[in-house]
Amino acid sequence: MGHSAAVWDFRAATEITKDQNGIGQVVLRTPQGASARVSLLGAQVTSWRNEQGEELLFTSSKTISKALKATRGGIPICFPQFGNCGSLELHGFARNRMWAVDENPPPLPANDSSGKSFVDLLLKSSEEDMKCWPHSFEFRLRVSVTKDGDLSLISRIRNINGKPFSFSFAYHTYLLVSDISEIRIEGLETLDYLDNLFQKERITEQGDAITFESEVDRVYLSSPNVIAVLDHERKQTYVIKKEGLPDVAVWNPWEKKSKAMVDFGDEEYKQMLCVDAAVIEKPVNLKPGEEWTGRLQLSVVPSSFCSYHVGLDSSSL
Ligand code: BG6
Repeated sequence: MGHSAAVWDFRAATEITKDQNGIGQVVLRTPQGASARVSLLGAQVTSWRNEQGEELLFTSSKTISKALKATRGGIPICFPQFGNCGSLELHGFARNRMWAVDENPPPLPANDSSGKSFVDLLLKSSEEDMKCWPHSFEFRLRVSVTKDGDLSLISRIRNINGKPFSFSFAYHTYLLVSDISEIRIEGLETLDYLDNLFQKERITEQGDAITFESEVDRVYLSSPNVIAVLDHERKQTYVIKKEGLPDVAVWNPWEKKSKAMVDFGDEEYKQMLCVDAAVIEKPVNLKPGEEWTGRLQLSVVPSSFCSYHVGLDSSSL
């Protein structure tokens, strides 16, 4: 017998287990069979599956499980630094820290928990982190799977310091794709981007949609709040909706860089594409007591849905 959303106990559908390395992880399930897995290491979403049980996020078969090191794939959280744009380790330290399950988070608007399977995770600045980034913060992440199988991530970062601080941020999202040469991104055309392959030179995107035939490492600036990643071969489209996250990092290492990465298969660049909702160009400035929120919602629709249906023109999440 199926469960109706009204009687389904979403808290009971949230299970805390351990991965093969003994690290805590939370499994979220919906009555319809969609699921997500979130590691307490980095609050990294390591799996997101649709109702048919098909995986939607890429994880490298060569990923290395090391103490306090993010795995290669899923959705690592980049905070308080994206990439190498500051003095911290690449993409900041949050992805390499143990997070705690937050049993009693400050409330979010009512519709953020109704009808969803969710977990709240919390990271606070440690004494060790304060040595390289001397700012006290509370970072709350809610990960949810909606009854339609969408994956939603809401980050709330609060300054509990006596002084202002600023940070950059990204949901470093490894999408699983059928074949990179069949992929097209819609929603970034005509925007300016910073090209990491050319010393962050600012370039204006030409042409229609973005396609891939060599290494790409770019940060698209001031993008719309809805973008689409079309997978021609699978006939499915990832719809990325975001709020508070103006920039989009797009990364595929292609052949040569793949071979140079120890935790990535030589041919795996064909099956992945990172499309990261982010705040990079203009870091967030938080005064004492202030809180910033950044939301991401990922869904998958058949590609026969045209831009009109997925709301490429709309701005709300
Ligand atoms: C991308 C960056 O977002 O992430 C790249 O723009 C970087 O420059 C890539 O190489 C992977 O980073 P990491 O730390 O996960 O290997």
